[in-house]
Amino acid sequence: MWRAMSTIFESPALTFEIVAKCSTTKARASVLKLPHGPVSLPIFQPVATQASLKGLTPEQLAQTGCNLCLNNTYHLGLKPGQEALEKIGGAHKLQGWKGNILTDSGGFQMVSLLKLAKVTEEGVRFLSPHDGTPMLLTPEHSISLQNTIGSDIIMQLDDVIATTSPDKARMKEAMERSIRWLDRCITAHKHPDRQNLFCIIQGGLDLELRKICCEEMTRRDTPGIAIGGLSGGEAKDAYCKVVENCTTWLPQNKPRYVMGVGYPEDLVVSVALGADMFDCVWPTRTARFGNAITSSGNLNLRHASFAADFSPIEPDCTCTCCRPVSDGGLGITRAFIHHVAAKETAGAHLLTMHNVHYLLALMRRVRAAIVEDRYPAFLHAYFRKLYGGDI
Ligand code: GUN
Ligand code: ZN
Repeated sequence: MWRAMSTIFESPALTFEIVAKCSTTKARASVLKLPHGPVSLPIFQPVATQASLKGLTPEQLAQTGCNLCLNNTYHLGLKPGQEALEKIGGAHKLQGWKGNILTDSGGFQMVSLLKLAKVTEEGVRFLSPHDGTPMLLTPEHSISLQNTIGSDIIMQLDDVIATTSPDKARMKEAMERSIRWLDRCITAHKHPDRQNLFCIIQGGLDLELRKICCEEMTRRDTPGIAIGGLSGGEAKDAYCKVVENCTTWLPQNKPRYVMGVGYPEDLVVSVALGADMFDCVWPTRTARFGNAITSSGNLNLRHASFAADFSPIEPDCTCTCCRPVSDGGLGITRAFIHHVAAKETAGAHLLTMHNVHYLLALMRRVRAAIVEDRYPAFLHAYFRKLYGGDI
């Protein structure tokens, strides 16, 4: 429903404006104005780990409607490295991307990718995967790298523990350390006039820890707020409780980003719980295994049943891959992808194009439903189609 009274938050490198709120759920539609153009929220951000989305050119990514993608500080810091990034003039120039970039700080990637990463108060110690030399990523170093990368949104270095960890004391330590590291990140940040530093709420599934973290980090007044440490194998109801409570404790007038979430059903539910931004490698990774995301569930096009299926991946999908040739698209069929998917990279490229487009288009449909104040009906129809029964 359009409200006469909109909620606006302005800071030097960002404007956030809520344009509509659902009258029955906590869903909101908003516009996030960033240095490289406006972004309509809720949004899914595709992950271009090494400054390139595996399987798509920047032009093809822009064609999906994407205006905000994610890079990783950890990967860019190792290769091409800070010196080369300085010479090139940042990640936008490196990848020929005119849209916005958000960089994750690096700690999470290190801890999730490297068995030998060790977290201390100073930072995260690890061995370079290239030559084994010992390295240390501190909050200051992560921010310095992100300042050089020039991303529009930069993330604080945080201490992330799997939600399934039984170690309560370690969870509390990680939450408190993340607050201390946020302070160090704020002090180290050289370009608050053109790059937005987001904090990351931690605390696992413990609502008391989450509440303290929300209160402490809200006081630091960053232009945007992420909810981290989720999507690590916890039960859905535990996940929902954390998101729902955090969005209650966090300020209404700032963008809220739930990190690491990308299954379509999680996206639509999290929007109802008051979240605005998401990212995940799953849609692009699963494409490389031959999987297509559709409204009736995921299809593995490597399965023999698709060998003679000459329909598009998703009927009525407007992505370049599915759109008929008569409509300027490629008119690709399930059978074609089935035949090339096992042997050729073309199959992975086409599926990546479709999957990224699917999620961005899903979020546009979500947004339209919020604006027209019919989000509960949208959710009902969405799950009915997905599970094919009465709910
Ligand atoms: N990606 C997914 N979850 C997280 C998190 O908790 N912290 C960071 N930095 N990145 C993430
Ligand atoms: Zn498609």
